[in-house]
Amino acid sequence: MSGFPRACVLGWPVSQSRSPLIHNHWLATYGLAGGYERAEIAPAEFESFVRGLGGAGFVGGNVTVPHKEAAFRLVDEADASAADLGAVNTLWFEDGRLVGGNTDGVGFVANLDEAAPGWEGERKLAAVIGAGGAARAVVHALGTRGFERVAVVNRTREKAEAIAPLAGRAGVAGGLDDLWRFLPDADLVVNATSLGMAGKGALEVHLGELPERAVATDLIYVPLETPFLADARARGLRTVDGLGMLLHQAAPGFERWFGVRPDVTPELRALVVADI
Ligand code: ATR
Repeated sequence: MSGFPRACVLGWPVSQSRSPLIHNHWLATYGLAGGYERAEIAPAEFESFVRGLGGAGFVGGNVTVPHKEAAFRLVDEADASAADLGAVNTLWFEDGRLVGGNTDGVGFVANLDEAAPGWEGERKLAAVIGAGGAARAVVHALGTRGFERVAVVNRTREKAEAIAPLAGRAGVAGGLDDLWRFLPDADLVVNATSLGMAGKGALEVHLGELPERAVATDLIYVPLETPFLADARARGLRTVDGLGMLLHQAAPGFERWFGVRPDVTPELRALVVADI
């Protein structure tokens, strides 16, 4: 076993994960001895792998699809975001106890802060399209930013209703065909559906009602410019792709494991873009 601190990304499948590229770039940049690897773990083996994480020499790891909820159930302690979401994307040890956090929401917000300063606009309304796992963290994070309303719309309306309360009292829900009602007030519109990903159909929504100040962002980063963002850009709106969220959600874990708060630099972004 190597004496260097090692972390890993736990997923199934995990070959598509860019996390090793990101963390190993930071290790090299800061001249740190350590390693970050992929761990492809099937659901049936997830619990035993996590219970053996420290014994196998890992200082922690990231958790991705489909294990985030299982990880939440296994940790000794969860941070506030993970507890609110019931999902963990970052694992680390404190005094021998396994702690789980969720950095997806802070990554989402940090990306907007960096790429579109002032994105909160008049804080009247943030519209989130989609209500899956990715949307949950976004709705939760937006609930902390002082919007009068955080509107969640989804093809399956019941799922939007289930997650809107993650934004606290600001949360409201609707079906996809309610989106147009929210758009005139929207400072931010987010595509949190899987539509627009390479190989999938495009999200068909009409953005014509958005005010000029509105920012459009997507959680997808393959491709970097989805049809949704291309449409928003053609309308003259500011747009923010999903890659920065991936980079920013990684930073807190790196700091926990390796002791340095890493920077999200243009160089890192270019490295990941070259791999897409
Ligand atoms: P993730 O964890 O990435 O959010 P998910 O949980 O599978 O993935 O969620 C996918 C999201 O994309 C859901 O909001 C889904 O809508 P439903 O809840 O109605 O399934 C949305 N989505 C996927 N395909 C869609 C389609 N063809 N039209 C509209 N929404 C779609």
